[in-house]
Amino acid sequence: MSKTEILYLNGEWMPIGEGRVSAEDRGFNFGDGVYEVMRAYGGEPFTLTEHLERQERSAAGLGIRIPLSVPQFSDVVRELLSRSGIPEALIYTQVTRGAAPRQHIYADDLKPTVMAFVRPTPVQPKAWRTEGAKAIPEPDIRWELCNLKTISLLPNILAKNRAHRAGAAEALFHMPDGTVTEGSSSNAYAIRGGELWTAPLGPRILPGITRMQILQIAQEIGIRVHEEALSLREFEAADEIIMSATNLELLPITRLDENAIGAGKPGPVYRRLHEAYRARVRERCGVAELVPL
Ligand code: PDD
Repeated sequence: MSKTEILYLNGEWMPIGEGRVSAEDRGFNFGDGVYEVMRAYGGEPFTLTEHLERQERSAAGLGIRIPLSVPQFSDVVRELLSRSGIPEALIYTQVTRGAAPRQHIYADDLKPTVMAFVRPTPVQPKAWRTEGAKAIPEPDIRWELCNLKTISLLPNILAKNRAHRAGAAEALFHMPDGTVTEGSSSNAYAIRGGELWTAPLGPRILPGITRMQILQIAQEIGIRVHEEALSLREFEAADEIIMSATNLELLPITRLDENAIGAGKPGPVYRRLHEAYRARVRERCGVAELVPL
């Protein structure tokens, strides 16, 4: 089977480099749209419906009507996986409000631009698992709609690039009052005394699909969960910090700036949670052996 990165664009299928959209697409002009990032293991998408339902909620929050139902969008994702023949894949989906002469006000009858593509899951640095990764604190200068997964990501992108330049895997966002919200493209957790703390759902964080899985798993394996915001100081003093996202799964953070977190190596709660997460992926995707991270 050939492994081509296939694009679905407004009902048509093509190699990803051949996709064309209007220069006046509101996604291009205004960042006026929503997206999802999903992951397939052994050719089978994990938590597909959860992602597509979140995409619906994000679009509804912006008043965009996605022309495909969740079952129809699921079919597109599965078709992309089968046409591309990429078993370990990230699937990107995006729906913008559509193209129209540029002005801030939009008509209600625009035709949304729908696209999705698959590509091989990028390989992560091995040291992130053996030694843990670094994060840097960054002021959270975003807005009150962080619960919607919109393509307007400039604050996230600037923070992530500052992190990258500092040799860090992630930026950890904190509010002016010191409370930690989430990462620039991940959710964040502190482990204290064997219990897990993470910011509550609300307008300041994305309701991560991986977060939802982790909270369920934690409860199943007897780790007490607190959906309560902690301060950056409390994160710095935690036994462990973990960040999570579809592409990362769970990531142990062992340095915040130059300060070691806990013992300065991936901790026992991270290991238990990640092992249980991978067991859940194996079971749900029907894969006997996952490709190692
Ligand atoms: N980002 N918070 C933010 C701001 C994110 O962008 C993401 C994911 C998450 C984790 O969500 P989930 O567990 O559903 O992947 C939390 C994706 C991966 C991205 O933008 O590429």
